[in-house]
Amino acid sequence: MVKPHLITTHRIDAAATPPARSFTIDNTLKLDAAAELDALERGLLAPAASIPPKFFYDALGSTLYNAIVQTQEYYPTRTEAAIFEAYRAEIAAHIGTGKQFIDLGSGDSVKAEKWFASLKPSRYVAVDISETAAREALERLSSHADAPALAGLITDFSRVLDVKAVMNDSPTMFFYPGSSIGNFLPDEALWFLKQIRAHCTTAGSGLLIGVDAKKDRARLDAAYDDALGVTAAFNLNTLRNVNTLLGTDFDVRDWQHRGFYNETMGRIEMHLEARRDLIVRVRGTVRSFAQGERIHTENSYKYAPEQFAALLVEAGFAAPRSWQDPRGDFSVFYADAQVA
Ligand code: AVJ
Repeated sequence: MVKPHLITTHRIDAAATPPARSFTIDNTLKLDAAAELDALERGLLAPAASIPPKFFYDALGSTLYNAIVQTQEYYPTRTEAAIFEAYRAEIAAHIGTGKQFIDLGSGDSVKAEKWFASLKPSRYVAVDISETAAREALERLSSHADAPALAGLITDFSRVLDVKAVMNDSPTMFFYPGSSIGNFLPDEALWFLKQIRAHCTTAGSGLLIGVDAKKDRARLDAAYDDALGVTAAFNLNTLRNVNTLLGTDFDVRDWQHRGFYNETMGRIEMHLEARRDLIVRVRGTVRSFAQGERIHTENSYKYAPEQFAALLVEAGFAAPRSWQDPRGDFSVFYADAQVA
């Protein structure tokens, strides 16, 4: 015999579990896959060989990146997280609630999700180069009772930012955490910020962005060449990814990780260095590398807070507010787009 109050309890539980939110994921990435591989080939055959950093992030590379952020030496991710934790309420009060939340490089969407309770976004758009990552993240979010409306876009915004198709005309907060802006050359970073600014067409729109600061060489060198060799594995994994994508025959054992701070340029550089004279087949061409020759795989620019604030203003944003950790290792900026 079921007691009436238990029946009541059951009804409340059922009402508290809404159906999972549905979402759609647009994909503009597959359109230019052939051009992408041609560019990759050109980079490898150029006198100063290079592979763009986006080729780090196949499935294993993404896993290795998640391991990098757990190493003792790699401070940016945990420092940014500490700033977000310490100032979340203050930052949210400054930004205001109810905007659409466009997450640039959403990955597993864990950083974004932490803002939902305080920013109460009207909708959340995951923008990423990895369809698997975005789909898994949106599926996870969709099962949460208090999730905002959800959408996804798979695109390579390092070429051009075009997210208009997944936006509506309500105030927008762009979210670009993690100091990923550092992968752009400073000129490109300005151009990218201008593109974000151009997407802000409604008053109240703006950008929440995390940026790594310049600091002493020893700490920067260690952060990009950790003792466990996780960053080395992450960098070397690019060669396996390129073998898969382009059919090259890189032997990972012939290459060595280099990651160091170039103080003159104000950037971390990552390279893969040939351990001996060797040849690699790149489609129809045999590319020889001399011992010590390098393939440039990444730049990660570091910005003094005032330097980055000036860049935001140059891109058309209002003078930003910023938040730092006590050591000044990392900065978080919110800049209003000054839409009339
Ligand atoms: C994802 C671009 C922010 O530059 O620090 C980590 C990538 N490379 N270790 C960075 C990276 C080597 C990372 N970003």
